Amino acid sequence: MAQFRFRDLAWCTCTHSGAIMESMGANSNKDWWRDATVYQIYPRSFADANGDGIGDIPGIDSRVEYLASLGIDAVWLSPFYPSQLADGGYDVDNYRDVDHRLGSLTDFDRLVAHLHDAGLRIVIDIVPNHTGSNHPWFRQALAEGPGSPARDRYIFRDPVGPPPGAPPSDWQSIFGGPAWEQVADGQYYLHYYAKEQPDLNWANPEVRADFVTTLRFWADRGVDGFRIDVAHGLTKDLSADPLPSQAEIDRIGPGPDHPMWDRDEVHEIYAEWRAVFNSYDPPRSGIGEVWAATAGRRARYATPAGLGQAFNFDLLYAPFEAAAFRSTVERNLAQAALSGSTSTWVLSNHDVVRHPTRYSQPQLADPDRVREQAQAWIASGGRVPHAEPALGAARARAATLFMLALPGAAYLYQGEELGLPEVIDIAPQHRQDPAFFRSAGKEIGRDGARVPLPWTRSGPSFGFGPGISHIPQPDWYAEMSVEAQAGEPASSLAMYRQALKLRHLLSEGEDLTWLDPPDDAATHFRRSPTWSCVTNFASHPVPRPPGRLLMASGPLAGREEIPPATTLWLAG
Ligand code: GLC
Ligand code: CA
Repeated sequence: MAQFRFRDLAWCTCTHSGAIMESMGANSNKDWWRDATVYQIYPRSFADANGDGIGDIPGIDSRVEYLASLGIDAVWLSPFYPSQLADGGYDVDNYRDVDHRLGSLTDFDRLVAHLHDAGLRIVIDIVPNHTGSNHPWFRQALAEGPGSPARDRYIFRDPVGPPPGAPPSDWQSIFGGPAWEQVADGQYYLHYYAKEQPDLNWANPEVRADFVTTLRFWADRGVDGFRIDVAHGLTKDLSADPLPSQAEIDRIGPGPDHPMWDRDEVHEIYAEWRAVFNSYDPPRSGIGEVWAATAGRRARYATPAGLGQAFNFDLLYAPFEAAAFRSTVERNLAQAALSGSTSTWVLSNHDVVRHPTRYSQPQLADPDRVREQAQAWIASGGRVPHAEPALGAARARAATLFMLALPGAAYLYQGEELGLPEVIDIAPQHRQDPAFFRSAGKEIGRDGARVPLPWTRSGPSFGFGPGISHIPQPDWYAEMSVEAQAGEPASSLAMYRQALKLRHLLSEGEDLTWLDPPDDAATHFRRSPTWSCVTNFASHPVPRPPGRLLMASGPLAGREEIPPATTLWLAG
């Protein structure tokens, strides 16, 4: 691996215990989420304690020390609830239990206690837009038939002609195919995602009350915050007759006039949830997964009267270019200030192609394009034209150091600390994503970002567990494993640890000041009198501004220039 020059490593090490103390102090702080680094765990692919091939809660528990060693503030657990796994657990059959394949509530309580003992908070995923189709409510809705109160918890409609028996509209599900599924008695139900994910009717008071019970159930168990899945989609207005066509709603776009997305009345739900969150000490935090038309509409979810924070995926979608990164930051900091929240930053999660792979493509940052390219790669028998993995890795590290210097909260996805690229060559029989199946393989899906983590160089699943892993891991995982990177100062893992510790030490307030960059293809911003961040986005070296080097995202080879695709943190 490439060599780094951590000139100030000794300084960082000696003040490290201070940083830990400080972060422990911050744990009693009700505003901890404003500038937190939150590490997303996809439980089924993190660590498998019992060797059945599926990651589990005891597996996560066995890695608390590792999590604490990263220097993060919190973990966010993707769904671990009972589920038939039609959508990786985002099809929940019981919101107040742990899937028995992943452990028990007792295991969960133990994990919460261990995370808290280690000074880490825990955020869990709440999936309120839809249940799983094995949820007792949905079974009851099928059993009790048209017009029953059980059906009113979901969105059932009679067929609409012509032709006779046709679905109520031509709406398409996100994963491909129709968004309406017909049941035996002829009615259709709405599922904006897979057909195993029937959409709930949020006009039904019982639905509203039940989610409050769920939030309290977990908050009472010590959960510190909630990530709200599809937060913009809950309230729907399907009163138009006939319903608008898919083309019409695409033209309308998310917002007050869209029948499903980002309608104004959704905020009534979050006002009620805020009251629940604030009834705890410290208040529980919320972060919405929000797909809205503008940063301003998104900011409405992030107010102190609502969820408090909303995901901003703009950096993830921005091309690796100075102007795009800078304008993304400017726009989102302005919106965050208006909402009274802080911004959030994300480069990878369980839904998108991992950022080293995105950045290795000529069309850099559009995950959909990368998926298309992955598909072409399979078709071509394993050759991606123009892909440059080394460049992708360098850009990913540079983008990560850029992100970790920003004010606000940063969300990291498991395995990104190892610099893992996407696993592209997963055979069709090992794929799990409904997007792959519902599009007959046209859409490659998200499994390539969900391959179980490599912990060791060897073993049946590279230390993921004593058995094999539920999605096969590639051989090159060995040299990207935690074991291979541990103690290696040039590794991606070392860079993340170093950056997260320094971020704790250096963060001061929520201001950012842009400085004149050394080149048009660079950005330079200051966070405090003792911390600035300069990134060279170009493929040529650019001059290095004055200031003592704190750390670099890549090798400097003794040069007084900033190499291509490199970020430096400077003191002063
Ligand atoms: C969110 C999740 C995604 C899931 C979808 C449906 O977008 O992040 O993984 O498939 O919601 O629940
Ligand atoms: Ca297991």
